[in-house]
Amino acid sequence: DEIRIFSPATVANLSCGFDVLGCCLDSVGDEMLIRKNDLGEVRITKITGQDLPLETDKNVAGVAAKALLEELSSKQGFDIEIYKKIKAGSGIGSSAASSAGAVFAINKLLGERFSANELIPFAMEGERLASGNAHADNVAPALLGGFSLVKSYDPLEVINLPSPSELRMVVLHPLIEIKTKDSRSIIKQSVSLKKAISQWGNLGAFVSALYTEDYELLGRSLKDEVVEPIRSILIPYFDDLKQVVMDKGALGFGISGSGPSVFALCKGNEKAENVKAAINDFYKSKDIAFELHLSKIN
Ligand code: HSE
Repeated sequence: DEIRIFSPATVANLSCGFDVLGCCLDSVGDEMLIRKNDLGEVRITKITGQDLPLETDKNVAGVAAKALLEELSSKQGFDIEIYKKIKAGSGIGSSAASSAGAVFAINKLLGERFSANELIPFAMEGERLASGNAHADNVAPALLGGFSLVKSYDPLEVINLPSPSELRMVVLHPLIEIKTKDSRSIIKQSVSLKKAISQWGNLGAFVSALYTEDYELLGRSLKDEVVEPIRSILIPYFDDLKQVVMDKGALGFGISGSGPSVFALCKGNEKAENVKAAINDFYKSKDIAFELHLSKIN
């Protein structure tokens, strides 16, 4: 009556797909232990690694779990332990990992009443609590794996996309905290037709390239004229970093979710290791602590 899970980090937006595109990292994530209790309530009994609320209604995992149980009119209680490895405010889906992990594990313990796709709306309630907006571009890939495209929010329709096997993601996390709520508040609410055209052209090309495994096209589609020019101001040395990774042969570079993490998409492990080393060399000369991850997309 208990389950221990790995709940993955995710990279949302991927430049061309603000709020609709995301992917799942296979080597970065939290651990969670979830067990049934006889108390008829959801409790967050332990959190290590981060200072986050234990109160069920203030915790994204608690809120997501309750949304699922309400849908089933279930009175079953659960204890949730969260071993955070992903830092809050990192831009690699910390709240999504907790929300998606909670509903994934509870669904398993209740005999898989929902498909992975059907779990997305419950996990989105955690995102609503964390950022004031129930975006799905982190929770969807956390639950489905690989790449996800949110075709529409109303009604919610999420499509799982293929993940070319040689793709590697290098993620730099400068250790400053940017709250998604704050970095959403600075984005303009309207987009010119000219920018919209370039954005949907790139998003379409990106999806096409995932199917045809056209790595070069994938990289060339990682463009963002809508959000990146505004949010990148919050990220120390963003333009220099882009230069460094592109010089080392990365396919593309952009902001991970709402930042401050940035990602470089690479073809093959060797190239990714070179890009990682170049970022390390560049950033260690700056006065900002950081973490670097290299992961497959699975
Ligand atoms: N699409 C969301 C945003 C992702 O960029 O605000 C947050 O991780």
